[in-house]
Amino acid sequence: MKQYQQKNVSDINLEDYLSEYESRQATVKDMFYDRFRRKESLNGLWHYAVDQYDNCIRQHWFEERRYDKNGYTVPVDYSFDEWPTMQLPCCWNTQSERYLLYDGSMIFTRKFRMQKTTGERIFLKLGGVNYICRVFLNKQYLGMHRGGSTPAYFEITDALQEDNAENRIILQADSTRRPEQVPTENTDWFNYGGVYRDIELIRVPEVFIRQFRIALVPDGKFDKICVSAALSQECDTKASLVIPELGINYTIDIRAGKGEAVIEASPMLWSPQDPYLYDVELICGEDKVTDKVGFREIRVEGRDILLNGKQIFLKGISCHEESVENGKGLTTEERLENIRIAKELGCNFMRVAHYPHNEEMAQLADREGILLWEEIPVYWAIRFTREATYQDAQNQLLELINRDWNRASVIIWSVGNENADTDERLEFMKNLAECAHREDSTRLVSAACLVSYQEMAIADRLAEYLDVIGLNEYMGWYTPDFGMLTKLFENSDPSKPVIVTEFGADAMPGHRRSIYDKGTEDCQTYVFEKQIETLKDIPYVKGMTPWILYDFRCPRRTSMIQGYYNRKGLLSPDKKYKKPAFFVLQKFYRSIK
Ligand code: GCU
Repeated sequence: MKQYQQKNVSDINLEDYLSEYESRQATVKDMFYDRFRRKESLNGLWHYAVDQYDNCIRQHWFEERRYDKNGYTVPVDYSFDEWPTMQLPCCWNTQSERYLLYDGSMIFTRKFRMQKTTGERIFLKLGGVNYICRVFLNKQYLGMHRGGSTPAYFEITDALQEDNAENRIILQADSTRRPEQVPTENTDWFNYGGVYRDIELIRVPEVFIRQFRIALVPDGKFDKICVSAALSQECDTKASLVIPELGINYTIDIRAGKGEAVIEASPMLWSPQDPYLYDVELICGEDKVTDKVGFREIRVEGRDILLNGKQIFLKGISCHEESVENGKGLTTEERLENIRIAKELGCNFMRVAHYPHNEEMAQLADREGILLWEEIPVYWAIRFTREATYQDAQNQLLELINRDWNRASVIIWSVGNENADTDERLEFMKNLAECAHREDSTRLVSAACLVSYQEMAIADRLAEYLDVIGLNEYMGWYTPDFGMLTKLFENSDPSKPVIVTEFGADAMPGHRRSIYDKGTEDCQTYVFEKQIETLKDIPYVKGMTPWILYDFRCPRRTSMIQGYYNRKGLLSPDKKYKKPAFFVLQKFYRSIK
């Protein structure tokens, strides 16, 4: 008796279609050190389709079942290689007007060939996909990554075709904003979606270097380098650290796949004024990794921040990762332009907010000489009581720290921004701060805290667990009375340094009237003048990163002067126009020696 294919009712009556595809999450434990490794790029034209109802998953499009068990063709709802194409990496929002405001799933697919060699392992690296990415290769589900701004690594060795035959890869990128995610569904920036950072294939030996960390020992003596290594296998062996310019060729004992050493050395110290980088190599068995590393020390002493033992005032500016043309998928040139403008402003510091920017940003900052505050998007009202949300936040923090560990420019890990001081939030963010301290004893840990308006003071309970207190205060804007600014600092007496991580005001480029008219350049300029007049004399304020370098897209901002942009930038969105407040801040920074 022939069995005929019922209408495929399984996918339309399936309640729980996703749980299988929440498994095999790529996390920090799947990462490995890959800078300067040989990579094969999958950037380029990918076929794509909007998949608003997740049918690629519901109907298992990735299995490409085109025949029933009797050999009859069955109708399918996709045509992978006839779909239109999009040049990846990119944010779909800036590719066409029809996708500007799209939040949801898109499916990307292409074919490629990859000749396998015996004894090597092959990984897929996705530099960044916002927010969830699921990977299918040759009809198999490989896994997923959660987190819109950190990289994901998937081993594909066994899923690849043999003998250089064609492979089909499918990526589902889901930019849906959800209350339980990190960030939640409500932020003050634009939710760009897509596979917006590099897509790369990386070959490594059977046993390879998974982690390589090197830094100056932060003991105020500048005469020792600490290095640690972890392999992909728990074997006993030796590794060699080579720094030719320092005459170092040091053998590190590896036991059960791990090893570390402290080596006498007095390198030239990296600083924004002198961003000197050393070529370093770590060799172990058949694997070798290289890097360009600056050696510097960042420490807090009382209410001072010390860079290489000397007090420093962090002359900073906040900056989102976006451009009018490319959204969150900035080009190298756009990143360099941001650094150049920050340096023209007189900055030695940038707060790259509110999420990990592309890994290239810290690499460029190392080379160009500017210090960085890097941050995970624990932003506003996170679901602080939800364990899975904490695991998501902690994993993003560990992925960021692991990714940028060797970057001298990065001096501060920030565990969040503007979170109400509740018991649940304190527990959540205290744990994140302690996690960052455990993972990295060579940097400072902070967060952008709110003013405690009841006491009109700096009194966030999280400060106890931070090395530096970040403070967002908008006196003269959201709190119009400037008198509150003086009172705020009179009422506060923190035992550690404070960086004013945000102050500012909206100003429509070119819009002039009076200092009393919100949204004018006159008002923004006045706010900067009054803020600087007060902040410059507060003994424990050791830095500032006013909000923000340039105007940015923001769905919450719909007034006439805003037009879906947050206008607190010192420059217009295209960075072609500098508002008068730019020169007020520049004058102050240039006055600081
Ligand atoms: C907050 C928040 C920013 C936001 C800014 C503003 O402090 O941290 O993300 O854009 O204020 O209101 O413009």
